[in-house]
Amino acid sequence: MSDNSYRYAPETAVVRAFVDPELATQAISPSMVMSVNHCFDPQQGAFSAQGLEDLSEAPYLYAGWSNPTVDQLEQRLAHLEGAEACLATATGMAAISGLFLSLLKHGDHLIISDVCYAGVYEFATQVLPDYGVEVTAVDTSDITQVLNALQKNTKLVHIETPSNPLLTLTDIRSLANGLKTSGTLLSVDATFSTPVITKPLSFGADIVVHSLTKFINGHGDVLGGAILGSRSLLNQIRSRAGVYLGATLSAQSAWLIMRGMETLYPRMKTLCSSAHEIANWLEKQPRVLRVLYPGLASHHQFALAQQQMALFGGIIAFQVDDIDLIQQRFAQESHVFYYAFSIGHQRSLAVAMKTDELDQSTYHFTAEKRAAFRSFAGDGVIRLSIGLEATEDLLRELEHLLR
Ligand SMILES: Cc1ncc(COP(=O)(O)O)c(C=O)c1O
Repeated sequence: MSDNSYRYAPETAVVRAFVDPELATQAISPSMVMSVNHCFDPQQGAFSAQGLEDLSEAPYLYAGWSNPTVDQLEQRLAHLEGAEACLATATGMAAISGLFLSLLKHGDHLIISDVCYAGVYEFATQVLPDYGVEVTAVDTSDITQVLNALQKNTKLVHIETPSNPLLTLTDIRSLANGLKTSGTLLSVDATFSTPVITKPLSFGADIVVHSLTKFINGHGDVLGGAILGSRSLLNQIRSRAGVYLGATLSAQSAWLIMRGMETLYPRMKTLCSSAHEIANWLEKQPRVLRVLYPGLASHHQFALAQQQMALFGGIIAFQVDDIDLIQQRFAQESHVFYYAFSIGHQRSLAVAMKTDELDQSTYHFTAEKRAAFRSFAGDGVIRLSIGLEATEDLLRELEHLLR
């Protein structure tokens, strides 16, 4: 199967690719290789001339650099994304900070989405400048803003589509085309979409990153991240982020993520369909002022969503007439939804993301950006991550909470 896996639909490949029966035992489930060290033959040479800068031909030596179980996960992820290579990391944050610290140096310029996962925004705007990296945050859903922000030293544009928490989209193909002549790399955080929905490399992006903690593992019981792209870029990133920054994923986590990932396709189909139905229903509720979901005709980028997304995702954000009251009800009265951060579990999660709190903790908006954010989110949104429960149970609970 490994050699022929390209022939199969992704639903098949995700359960079958790179999992040939073990030679010794004929076991079907992959074994977990926990060993940190591997014996090697010094006569054969452990490294290429590039040493740690190119580990692609190196034998397994030390689990901080490569490990057979992590390797198996990386091959399967690369296959799903259509990437030449992958580095699995300890968390999604490790993937993104490792990516930035591997590719950017003093004097380089980074453009990021002005609405994205708080940890990424804070790392980019509060930490990278300490290392001499210039950072500009723009609304990447407007390609002109990105292109206008380009400078001679712009090395990387990093976007999130759909974005957390506003569910705005960036047109990956148009942006990749716009960046072509500049030589600037485009990386896409596709955590919200997963390869089931959008494969950014096929739209011209150079790099894809994921928090595997979310939909790809899908069970809320392990942390992980991944960076995918060309072999040459990934060699550089593996040595810097993996070896030197120590962002490597453990074998145990890799094994769990592989197991979770095998049901990625049916999980995504089920929860996206449920989320779509719930988003439609929310739009009709009197307490709901606005629903942000890429699959709704009311989403300002619905046409782009139809081109770029095979399904519309499991995350919904909505504004209500009294966010404090509804937040309290979700926290105290819900039985099916858990009031908790994070996304992408088999269990449905809800959390309030209040505009003033996000402003103070993360975004430090200018007056203009605050107004733009408020035009989508008002005082804040309730973010739902839809799980695998029956849609009717989720709707019944929402009806009660939004009474
Ligand atoms: C879009 C996105 N990217 C990255 C991350 C960070 O991932 P992790 O929690 O695995 O570090 C998150 C976490 O919520 C996220 O939502």
